[in-house]
Amino acid sequence: MTEIDTVSVTPFSDQRPGTSGLRKKVAVFRQPHYVETFVQAILDCVEGLAGATLVVGGDGRFFNSEAIQTILKMAAANGVGRVIVGAGGLLSTPAVSNLIRRRKALGGIILSASHNPGGPDGDFGIKYNVSHGGPAPESLTEAVFARTRSLSGYRIARAPDVALDKPGQAAIGAMAIEIVDPVADYAQMMETIVDFDAIRALFAGGFRMRFDAMSAVTGPYAVEILERRLGAPAGTVINAVPLPDFGGHHPDPNPVHAADLIAEMNGPDAPDFGAASDGDGDRNLIVAPGLFVAPSDSLAVLAALAPLAPAYADGLAGVARSLPTSRAVDRVAAALGLPAYETPTGWKFFANLLDAGRITLCGEESAGTGSNHVREKDGLWAVLVWLNIIARSGKRADAIMREHWSTYGRDYYSRHDYEEIDTAVADGLMADLRASLGGLPGRSFGGLTVESADDFSYTDPVDGSVSQRQGVRILFREDARVVFRLSGTGTSGATLRVYLERFEPHPGRHGLDTATVLAPVVAAAEAIAQIGGRTGRTAPTVVT
Ligand code: G1P
Ligand code: ZN
Repeated sequence: MTEIDTVSVTPFSDQRPGTSGLRKKVAVFRQPHYVETFVQAILDCVEGLAGATLVVGGDGRFFNSEAIQTILKMAAANGVGRVIVGAGGLLSTPAVSNLIRRRKALGGIILSASHNPGGPDGDFGIKYNVSHGGPAPESLTEAVFARTRSLSGYRIARAPDVALDKPGQAAIGAMAIEIVDPVADYAQMMETIVDFDAIRALFAGGFRMRFDAMSAVTGPYAVEILERRLGAPAGTVINAVPLPDFGGHHPDPNPVHAADLIAEMNGPDAPDFGAASDGDGDRNLIVAPGLFVAPSDSLAVLAALAPLAPAYADGLAGVARSLPTSRAVDRVAAALGLPAYETPTGWKFFANLLDAGRITLCGEESAGTGSNHVREKDGLWAVLVWLNIIARSGKRADAIMREHWSTYGRDYYSRHDYEEIDTAVADGLMADLRASLGGLPGRSFGGLTVESADDFSYTDPVDGSVSQRQGVRILFREDARVVFRLSGTGTSGATLRVYLERFEPHPGRHGLDTATVLAPVVAAAEAIAQIGGRTGRTAPTVVT
């Protein structure tokens, strides 16, 4: 008999999940009972746990292994029937979503802080995904939060650690543990979505690609799919081995943190296509030779051309984007007569639309795109659909992007992040901004005149749930837009995100410098929100 300990705890007050689960510094998670309290709250709040199957895996960052062992012992003590866990404790976020769906699991626990740095001084995170494979809805995350503040103890099996280094079977007490190859099911799913033959022929013809896995979880997936199954030359995937500290890098696939890739793609002998993914494999970066593809533009291209991939050959049911994502995809939807939805930030809001069959594709400006194949964004999937489009259209990635702008116009886009600002200052800025909204329409800031200003509120068209105060949006008559919101994934202080965009219909003006085009929009945003005066910052921390 495996013995079960019930350990008494004093509840924590800071375990409210954010945009994407509970995310904190590693040191916070390493406090005694911290992981256990949050996991017990999850296990207490999900219905139907007894005898159920859970999927567990993470992005391999520092503390991944320890957290998984704790979760296995707690799952056994709480009556879970079976846990499917990735060998080495590894599973990308989209791979977890796929396994939950394919294996009809009750849900899954993902250990990751996504694109945030790892290592002992870095970040860690835990999030729960439900039976459709997507992130838990707010009703569940709020219930978990309430539970973390009231529970008095947790249950854990007294058992040795389980060896997870290779696929096989194990058990703790009556709970079965199935250790799976993290890549196999995912790779098989990709073969049903994109045209592997066409991409294989592309590589056989000498097409050159660089994929930067950023020493994070996607390495094994990218090597298996791109190099082994699609025949890309060995070495196409770089930084392919997941490391606990991501090699000291910041596994965030944007032009700032993937600077080497951008430099190579702008170099004299650039490969034909460049891509990268983040810590847990749900984000993607697409770079054409000499041309960075903004994530919002990538979503629009995929919406227009995804039917070149077998899974979408019959066309799309509809598309969705988060509020701060540029309106480029809306233009495609309008031209093709597709329903288009605008949701709050975070993947959980797409899940209902995908489940109801209202949309096929969705995405966010933060380098996340996905489809109805899983209920998470999926970095490698986006890269493979791009390769499929290139292979089937016979066009270079940069030509595809420029032709897209000629057809639909270009939404110049940028995001300015002000990181680690004082929480009270950030809250005050947002509160005053909200209070000023009524007086803004009709006022001019530089050359821009406010058309409308509001605080985005979303009513889910499927279940009717309402999410308020999801971001301040200001539309200008000149077809420009600014969105202000505070990050829900940061781990110290507050991060103010300012999203800036301006539409340019004329093909003769599609090759301009983004910062130059957006300068008046930046000035208007500053004049409206007084960011400099309030935060003392003269420039954003990160511009993407
Ligand atoms: C950020 C991104 C958002 C994404 C989330 C999880 O959230 O902006 O699009 O869904 O990470 O990857 P934020 O920090 O802005 O709340
Ligand atoms: Zn991620």
